[in-house]
Amino acid sequence: MKKINEIQRIARAIKRAGAASLLVAAAISAPFAAQATTVATASATTAAPTQPQPQSQSQSDAALIAHGEYLARAGDCIACHSTPAGKPFAGGLKFDTPIGAIYSTNITPDRNTGIGSWTFAQFDRAVRAGVKPNGDTLYPAMPFPSYARLNENDMHALYAYFTHGVAPVNQANRAVDIVWPLSMRWPLGIWRHLFAPEPATFNATHYTDPVIARGAYLVQGLGHCGACHTPRAVTMQERSLTDLDGSEFLAGGTAIDGWVPSSLRANPRTGIGAWSEADLVQFLKTGRTQHSAAFGGMTDVVQHSMQHMSDADLTAIARYLKTLPSTDPKETPYAYNDTAAHALRTGDATAPGAAVYRDNCTACHRSDGRGYNRVFPALGGNPVVQGKDATSLIHVLLTGSTLEGTKTAPSSFTMPPFGWRLNDQEVADVTNFVRTSWGNAGSMVSASDVAKVRKTVTVHAPDMPPGASLSH
Ligand code: HEC
Ligand code: HEC
Ligand code: HEC
Repeated sequence: MKKINEIQRIARAIKRAGAASLLVAAAISAPFAAQATTVATASATTAAPTQPQPQSQSQSDAALIAHGEYLARAGDCIACHSTPAGKPFAGGLKFDTPIGAIYSTNITPDRNTGIGSWTFAQFDRAVRAGVKPNGDTLYPAMPFPSYARLNENDMHALYAYFTHGVAPVNQANRAVDIVWPLSMRWPLGIWRHLFAPEPATFNATHYTDPVIARGAYLVQGLGHCGACHTPRAVTMQERSLTDLDGSEFLAGGTAIDGWVPSSLRANPRTGIGAWSEADLVQFLKTGRTQHSAAFGGMTDVVQHSMQHMSDADLTAIARYLKTLPSTDPKETPYAYNDTAAHALRTGDATAPGAAVYRDNCTACHRSDGRGYNRVFPALGGNPVVQGKDATSLIHVLLTGSTLEGTKTAPSSFTMPPFGWRLNDQEVADVTNFVRTSWGNAGSMVSASDVAKVRKTVTVHAPDMPPGASLSH
């Protein structure tokens, strides 16, 4: 994308359009924030084609619908288009924005409240171009700037699935909770013209290896990995939509619901430079490797989407990610250092945070910081532990987190919450301890950084009834 030009253009456009559009532009990124936690428990994961196919329907139609179902998983449509207690794809999930809430829509084939009466062209225009049948632009909480890359055959398969493979649900869409005039959608149209690519079939010729081309198609398109993992500009568009238009593609996003999407580039410490292709496949399929365990928004991506991909597609995604160069040539490779482990082993816990670590963490992550492979993540050499922004680490310490089971790794492991009994200084000390021990090289955090995160999360004691909370 021609960024500088574009920014100047939008600045002019915003001046012309007035304050309303500015606010809408500011609201645009916020919807992504709603996604990460709200869908974690979506009961809709079991969505399956339920409609018996008419007998006249040929086998090739059934194959097309099944292919569409697979693609819908790759696109994680269910995560946003269902509520935890609701029916699959009936919509209604709330996305908070600074100017009010918007809701995802019913995309089941119900003729009155869903998309049952939509033509292929209407469906295609909504998914790839972000334009509704009445001409209104969708909020880019719907990741149409990524879906713009889908090819026509895949769009036909998705259409077949959503019109013939999904059970119709009669559930009216909720209107946006945004007051007029901010609710006007025309500023979104300006944004779309400036920042969303024209739908154009993915051009595989940039990639000489067909496996890498397949991976690029999935990552940039249906997977919409950049919606979380690519940093955004002030005008809220992703800074790069592909590896071809900038080195910021997948270079790490800003925190969403207090979870930081890490860099997926080859940076040796803060990215996936030290991961093999097999590590990546295993992470996407099971949420766990010897380096790291999935948490935050990535838990949902593994649960609803990636664990259902074929090994061939996961390999393609991994191989493509491994082609993205590091963004920092000066970042040194990780090398294990025994100092902290040796001190803990010999009873020396004088380093700040060492005693807190010894008393609370060694049972699972061990004094050598190596954890237990695929059970309790290693903290030494773990990219998320060394990332620039430590928000996720503070968050995980305050609230705990559960590594969810998947089809091929059914066991689930839980990290207990510590926020109810460690104060801000203790959390800061132990965060700094793990960020700088065993060879790690993360920057330091302060008690006030912890206090900021504490304000945004709900801190439970492990045995408290749901809904109860403790403030420190
Ligand atoms: C990150 C969240 C997210 C994902 C993933 C997502 N959507 Fe959406 N989608 C939305 C939201 C939010 C809206 C409503 C936007 C608005 O009202 O402007 C929407 C709107 C739509 C619409 C327009 C419906 C209407 O009635 O106007 C269609 C069609 C649609 N999505 C299809 C899909 C399909 C197919 C997929 C998967 C390939 C998908 N969406 C994935 C969030 C998402
Ligand atoms: C809803 C936001 C979201 C989306 C969409 C998303 N991710 Fe993530 N991802 C995260 C967060 C947050 C983390 C950091 C926590 C963790 O390591 O699990 C993460 C971590 C990862 C990691 C582990 C990196 C590390 O250093 O530990 C990989 C690999 C990854 N994502 C790949 C992908 C791929 C591939 C896609 C697209 C198919 C994708 N992600 C889409 C939020 C997201
Ligand atoms: C009962 C075992 C257990 C204890 C005790 C425990 N953890 Fe964890 N920890 C886990 C599990 C399991 C995960 C993975 C959570 C997930 O994937 O959602 C985890 C994840 C983490 C992560 C994120 C790394 C990643 O890749 O997922 C950090 C950082 C962390 N723990 C630090 C600590 C610290 C510091 C302490 C002590 C204050 C501690 N843990 C105590 C089990 C534990």
